[in-house]
Amino acid sequence: TQKKTILDLYKMKENGGKAAWTTAYDCCFAAYAEKAGMDMILVGDSMGMVVYGYQGTIPVTMDMCINACQAVRRGAPNTYVIGDMPFGSYHESVTSAVHNAVRFIKEGDVDAVKLEGGVAVTEVIKAIVRAGIVVFGHVGLTPQSSTAMGGFRAQGRTVESARAVIQDAIAVYEAGSRCILLEGIPEAVGAFIHRILPIPVYGIGAGSDTDGQVLVVGDSLGMFEAFKPKFAKKYADIAGVATQGFAQFIKEVKEGSFPASEHKYSISGDIVEFEKL
Ligand code: KIV
Ligand code: NA
Repeated sequence: TQKKTILDLYKMKENGGKAAWTTAYDCCFAAYAEKAGMDMILVGDSMGMVVYGYQGTIPVTMDMCINACQAVRRGAPNTYVIGDMPFGSYHESVTSAVHNAVRFIKEGDVDAVKLEGGVAVTEVIKAIVRAGIVVFGHVGLTPQSSTAMGGFRAQGRTVESARAVIQDAIAVYEAGSRCILLEGIPEAVGAFIHRILPIPVYGIGAGSDTDGQVLVVGDSLGMFEAFKPKFAKKYADIAGVATQGFAQFIKEVKEGSFPASEHKYSISGDIVEFEKL
């Protein structure tokens, strides 16, 4: 298969198609996603929870993200990959934001970067776009500012809050974002933003009226069980399969049924000579 470009994403929207994307942080799961036909892979800073066991995404560093992007690219060479800019990597200055976005492209070999925020990050988006990099916006529930939001809380549930989310989405579009991700907002607000913006608008917990859906792999495949958002759906039970597999291995080691003859090397040559050793 030919790797998608930003133009393919626009074409999908034009044709009313829905894009399905997942997060991935390593080579194996990236390969499964590509094999299954995923339209895009996000190397999300949700790796903070899913891979590293943190409570949130705040501790995730640029180096963690770049390493994960490289692993994902090796596993999914023909898939559109988006690198998620971690907390702090675009907040200090416009210059360092561009520097870090460039690192995602040059070192991480991704096709686009995503960053959170609306009105507050328009200068950063404009500067990264000027560097020729495709930017995905991300508004609504923005986990990197969950402390300021008072936790992982859906946004836009009052008229005033909905207006703020809509203004953020418009600001991100006007700053030059080529796609937007809406997270954790009422379906009506998602539908409104989808209707007024000409670019692909994707959702996670933003209802059905979008150009596609993304889920965090920890949620969609049942790997991460510490916290389950309302919008998550479990399509597989990796935790169950893995725990069962480990338990069976432990049992066989203890009882001596593993390794069996097919797992053992034999010697070639004269057994008598070996026995003299
Ligand atoms: O890091 C992440 O997994 C995200 C999700 C909202 C898709 O940004
Ligand atoms: Na993220």
